[in-house]
Amino acid sequence: ILCDIGFIGLGVMGKNLALNLADNGYTIAAFDLDTEKVASAIKQDELERGDNPQRIFPCTSYTELLSKLTSPHLVILSVPAGRPVDDVCHKLIDAGIQADDIVVDTGNSLWTDTVEREKNFEGNFLFFSTAVSGGEVGARFGASLMPSGDRYAWTRIAPMFKAIAAKVDDATGKPIERHEPGNPVIEGEPCATYIGETGSGHYVKMVHNGIEYADMQLICEAYNIMRTGLNMTPVEIAAIFRKWNEGELHSYLIEISAEVLEHIDPDTNQPLVDIILDKAGQKGTGLWTAVSSLQIGAPSPTITSAVYARALSTLKGERVVASKVLAGPDLSEFNLDKDEVISQLHDALYCSKICAYAQGFQLMSMAGKEHGWNLDFAGIAKIWRAGCIIRAVFLQSITKAYERDEELSNLLIDPFFAGQIAKYQTNWRRTVANSSLMGIPVGAFSSALAYYDSYRSETLPANLLQGQRDFFGAHTFERADKTDGKMYHVEWSQAARPIVKV
Ligand code: 6PG
Repeated sequence: ILCDIGFIGLGVMGKNLALNLADNGYTIAAFDLDTEKVASAIKQDELERGDNPQRIFPCTSYTELLSKLTSPHLVILSVPAGRPVDDVCHKLIDAGIQADDIVVDTGNSLWTDTVEREKNFEGNFLFFSTAVSGGEVGARFGASLMPSGDRYAWTRIAPMFKAIAAKVDDATGKPIERHEPGNPVIEGEPCATYIGETGSGHYVKMVHNGIEYADMQLICEAYNIMRTGLNMTPVEIAAIFRKWNEGELHSYLIEISAEVLEHIDPDTNQPLVDIILDKAGQKGTGLWTAVSSLQIGAPSPTITSAVYARALSTLKGERVVASKVLAGPDLSEFNLDKDEVISQLHDALYCSKICAYAQGFQLMSMAGKEHGWNLDFAGIAKIWRAGCIIRAVFLQSITKAYERDEELSNLLIDPFFAGQIAKYQTNWRRTVANSSLMGIPVGAFSSALAYYDSYRSETLPANLLQGQRDFFGAHTFERADKTDGKMYHVEWSQAARPIVKV
């Protein structure tokens, strides 16, 4: 038989995406350089399909893969970002792929690589990208998908990508859960929407990951205040996270954090979190978001601070030495009211989270303008309501904010979010102030607060900064008392100075 889709790369994500497609009635020709991965996908298909016909068919070469597909061919890639994507594309050209065939990259590719690839492979095949969020479970039972590229390609592949996407109840913003093989969810709004021209889907996914970094770091800082400042056990902290998960902070990341904290290591009978080495890894998407925000000039300090927090964590050896050398406050001197600190912390986490999302959305907005993408922010918030790592009830409020005003320059000035921060900010300030006094690092909380205070400041000390620049480099400045659009310069050394008598 001829298959609907050729699938290349049957690692955890690839295998699960292929099985999800199979559940939705598509037949798959599967290829991976590692034949064991193909065998494992075939075995899983056998187990899951029962007496039903085979859905995934093994291939041993690119040529065989193409020969097993209906025309025009559709090939989906789930290979590591970077060189492997180009290598596979060149192998497909060698194997005889045609100009009207479509190749879809589902990896965490750098968005500029995606733009290049669309250009480079023009005439060989249609290169399309669909960024995927949701980890292995999302891939298997419903992910959030961010497709971008050629519109014609999208119309051809949209039905299958909408089928494998997570589904959400549009009215409430709540995910429609699916946890078992077979029986795909068909009701609800699919978390897959066309993002725009080439590269924009991967850009949006990159910012999703930047927000993910900030969200995770904020939760980690809340944990650290409870663990270090309040001396609470991981299980006690998990109980607080579970309580928070019933309100505004309800999210997948809070939920899994509680699960991680409750996990007991079978070898030592200790909470596993106490045994996991405090050195964070990263694959690059948070860093790319931070770099892009700096290049565009879209202030994203909470996202950037989350990337730095991971970098600082990796200096474990130096931190161990420094901890014996550098002084800080004595924590035993603080007499804290535990319940009060926890309730302040809740509000601090909520306000900081609003800032992290405000930064991410403003970054996408400024990038969209720079690159000529017409991004639909309500649409983006909608597809993040289910399936992806940052899914949360909160995304429903963001959807509503952009539905109220699609030109909203910053989420902070949306009436709902402005009202939320007005209501909760005192506790946020207390958390940042008290943590600083205690010497507990809260880079993400405090950068969010400084961002908020800067954004709401009619005047900032950039007037002095412009003066400094003009002083040493004749860089010129604008005058606040003139609207002539001219730049001014002062001969500072000759300027009249008041004589100060000492
Ligand atoms: C997702 C995740 C996923 C992955 C990232 C983050 O949206 O499903 O973001 O893409 O977990 O690679 O990884 P790092 O934390 O290693 O950068």
